[in-house]
Amino acid sequence: MTRVLAVETSCDETSVAVLHGAGDDVALKSLVILSQDVHRVFGGVVPELASRAHLTSIDAVMRRALDESGAALESVDVFAATNGPGLVGALLVGVGYAKALAFARGKPLVAVHHMEGHLFGTSLEHREAVPPFTALLVSGGHTLLIDVEAWGRYRLLGRTRDDAAGEAFDKVAKRMGLPYPGGPHLEKLARDGTRGALRFTRPMLHRGQSPGDPDFYDVSFSGLKTAVVSVLADDGKRKADAGREMADIALAFQDALVDTLVEKTARALEQHGRTRVVLGGGVACNKALLAAMRARMEPLGAAVYAPSGRLATDNAAMIARAGLFHFERGDVAGLNLNAYASLPIPGLIT
Ligand code: KG4
Ligand code: ZN
Repeated sequence: MTRVLAVETSCDETSVAVLHGAGDDVALKSLVILSQDVHRVFGGVVPELASRAHLTSIDAVMRRALDESGAALESVDVFAATNGPGLVGALLVGVGYAKALAFARGKPLVAVHHMEGHLFGTSLEHREAVPPFTALLVSGGHTLLIDVEAWGRYRLLGRTRDDAAGEAFDKVAKRMGLPYPGGPHLEKLARDGTRGALRFTRPMLHRGQSPGDPDFYDVSFSGLKTAVVSVLADDGKRKADAGREMADIALAFQDALVDTLVEKTARALEQHGRTRVVLGGGVACNKALLAAMRARMEPLGAAVYAPSGRLATDNAAMIARAGLFHFERGDVAGLNLNAYASLPIPGLIT
């Protein structure tokens, strides 16, 4: 049994978690997530403000997480921190804090790749969400389709060529005048839309594609975003029944994005003979995505696992779980550990 305390500060959530266990047999003892509200007024994350907010709250968040876990700092065996990818200033706060803890307690430090954390996150709630599986990670900064052969053995199949799925949701929502972050607001608005009132082309998706083609798994959302924005501009001119039209546009946008993600995931599942799909990242909270994914996978005999909101968005529990895996493999970091804005996922295979 190993007890891990993990720190996650890659973007705008200050999070600390305590987890203990061995292999896939783990128990999450506590998870504290402090979402930085300050960015709302700016309509996006302001990096410098994020770093400062992490700096002032990390100690209180850590103490709260320890309190809730019922464990003492002295009983922690390993300290883990996200060291990339993300906002460098924000990451440095968590990395520096975890280093100080590891040094003061004389315990090992483990570095975790944020997206590898997302791969592990869902397994904390669903015991079956373990390799082999097809993973779709959809967040504000990333859209990755990965074949997970085993923990630590990842085949990166596809990614976005431009905007991430969450970023597309946020940008379209902003143009619709919805609050930031726009994803959940746009999903809510889409529920009032009429399916078929409007249709956008599914980006990077056509029958002529075959495995081996560079666009077989990749996605692209910037053209879709531009198409939506131009419809919004036309509607402004027509001054139509704004509420109604907005909901139709929101639904048509969401359908195009969801269809694309679902089809690419189905291709990955079939090509690699998997029977499980694991979703992660903030957009995994989208109920329309989950429903469409389940409907498409069921006839293929595959189960779909999605994390709850708390574990879908950024959190330290997934970092603790991935940290445990690396610690068990002996991947320990030195006190010279650095943070990186972009960083390849460890364990990539071709
Ligand atoms: O994983 P996450 O918390 O942070 C990043 O690492 O980016 O993801 C945040 C993203 C935002 O773009 C947000 O709009 C999106 O996830 N999101 C959603 C929903 N809930 C969160 N997008 C669509 N539908 C939702 N229900
Ligand atoms: Zn994330």
